[in-house]
Amino acid sequence: MDWGIRNRLSRIMKPQDGKGVMLAVDHGYFLGPTERLEDPKKTIKPLLKHADSLMLTRGVLRTCVDSESDIPIVLRVSGGTSILGEDLSNETITTSIEEAIRVNASCLALSIFVGSKYEHQTLKNLSKLVDEGEKYGIPVLAVTAVGKEMARDARYLALSCRVAAELGAHLVKTYYCENFEKVVEGCPVPVIIAGGKKLTEKEALNLTFNAIRDGASGVDMGRNIWQSDHPIEMIQAVRSIVHDRQTVEESINSFFMNKNMRSNELETLKTR
Ligand code: 5RP
Repeated sequence: MDWGIRNRLSRIMKPQDGKGVMLAVDHGYFLGPTERLEDPKKTIKPLLKHADSLMLTRGVLRTCVDSESDIPIVLRVSGGTSILGEDLSNETITTSIEEAIRVNASCLALSIFVGSKYEHQTLKNLSKLVDEGEKYGIPVLAVTAVGKEMARDARYLALSCRVAAELGAHLVKTYYCENFEKVVEGCPVPVIIAGGKKLTEKEALNLTFNAIRDGASGVDMGRNIWQSDHPIEMIQAVRSIVHDRQTVEESINSFFMNKNMRSNELETLKTR
């Protein structure tokens, strides 16, 4: 693999353990002002120092992140449809490689929709982006988006991840599922997981723990961090599981105990 690609990847996936905590704040590209991401600047600022990388669009990057920040940027470059559109899978490449270089992106991110109406188009997008990225030493993260009609099971996710890797993605993001180790086994590049819809803090930490145990190389997590009432403690706890191999219980004790939480609130967090 090209030196530039390896160098950029090592900014996202820490070479000490090969793992990474990516903070995802790109949701507005099709969802608009999602709950607790209405003002991205306010959401992002306190979390930045706890993340290894930040995934977002160029619009939010330019307007909401300080250009002096040294956080590695995972630039979402696919889109072109919204939740009001005819079909979410009808995506195109929305940002040029020149723009990605201008904003000093460490990685490019694009969704593929395997099994959906626009599967072919999104897979072509991925192949084209890998070719472009490789010209300039910029790796590509393939996001395996799951259409409403698809089951989020190991068979489907393993297929999507493998297709992404075969087309040249350097990193793949998918969802945790039963038999997740099969998804990882079938994918020759590192796999990271999305958090998905907001769960309780304990459930989201369990998800993180199970994914790492079953072979994930990290997380690309959004809502379960910034929709929590305790986003800083939440990202710290996720980090401690990903990088320090803490258990869920240990991560809750380390971070939520420090918070000035009423003991009944803490008990609920630990037991539910
Ligand atoms: C949206 C995305 C998100 O970045 C990804 O799903 C991670 O966010 P969350 O943890 O909230 O699911 O790619 O298309």
